[in-house]
Amino acid sequence: MTKRRRRPPAPKRTKKPKQPKKPPLTARTADRHVLYQRAVQSPEVDAAFYARFFQRTTGRPLRVMREDFCGTAVLSCHHVRRHRENRAIGVDLHWPTLAWGRIHNVKDLLDEEQRKRLLLLQENVLDVRSPKADAILALNFSYSVFKTRRDLAAYVQNAHRSLKPGGVLFMDAWGGPDVQKHVVDRARHGDFTYLWEQRRYDPISHEIECAIHFEFRDGTKMRDAFVYEWRLWTLAELRELYEEAGFRDVHVLWEGTDSKTGRGNGVFRRKERGDMDEAWIAIVVGTKE
Ligand SMILES: C[S@@+](CC[C@H](N)C(=O)[O-])C[C@H]1O[C@@H](n2cnc3c(N)ncnc32)[C@H](O)[C@@H]1O
Repeated sequence: MTKRRRRPPAPKRTKKPKQPKKPPLTARTADRHVLYQRAVQSPEVDAAFYARFFQRTTGRPLRVMREDFCGTAVLSCHHVRRHRENRAIGVDLHWPTLAWGRIHNVKDLLDEEQRKRLLLLQENVLDVRSPKADAILALNFSYSVFKTRRDLAAYVQNAHRSLKPGGVLFMDAWGGPDVQKHVVDRARHGDFTYLWEQRRYDPISHEIECAIHFEFRDGTKMRDAFVYEWRLWTLAELRELYEEAGFRDVHVLWEGTDSKTGRGNGVFRRKERGDMDEAWIAIVVGTKE
């Protein structure tokens, strides 16, 4: 999506280690999930961010994290790796994506003991209520698949029921006038280019269609690697739904702006009033009584 990867620079090496030469990526050889994870997600940074925020605001460590719409569950894996008492529950409807996550992320990132602390459920997020979680994360706007207020309300209510007392729900959100335009954003990621296309927006229903494409150095293209048919929800609607579901201390963390680039800087702070940015990202937070 529009989030850019935030990854610390690799340590400088004096001598280049010998590595088998990888064949160049092409549309035929590339794996769309690998490209998505490299271009869109920052699971280590995100796992650290939510753990730190939870500890700071609740005074206790984030131990049981549920990742709704988990896809390949890479964030869940990183949460489990952070501490020997951490547990993660990843929920996703799509069996092939979960299977990809098991084969690649779970196998590569977790040892045997850590795997026991990860539970992957092939379920609808509307149906899962246990095990109860300290925090539920619905990231990269995935809840936007719910196109009616009734469906999104059911999701927020179910999340509320699935949390332990004092548990926290995090849902990220995006918006601004730029989001309602036909735009194709491009970002180079080493041996491939990531393209985010906003290709249709209906001001009446707020339905929006977006797609991710990838391009390679040999000129080949992977069009429509991922396509999203969503509703664009506003922060005001999300806040109301949280409050109606019984969350308290409902608030918004607003991303700051990098003064040099004019783009998001990855620093999220609680704000009562947002800025008139062309495009913004925010996180809605609420606590279960
Ligand atoms: C955009 S991907 C999110 C991947 C990853 N969590 C991220 O942050 O980038 C959305 C995922 O939501 C899943 N999904 C859509 N509707 C769902 C539902 N009702 N219940 C569970 N998973 C759902 C899809 O299968 C897909 O893997």
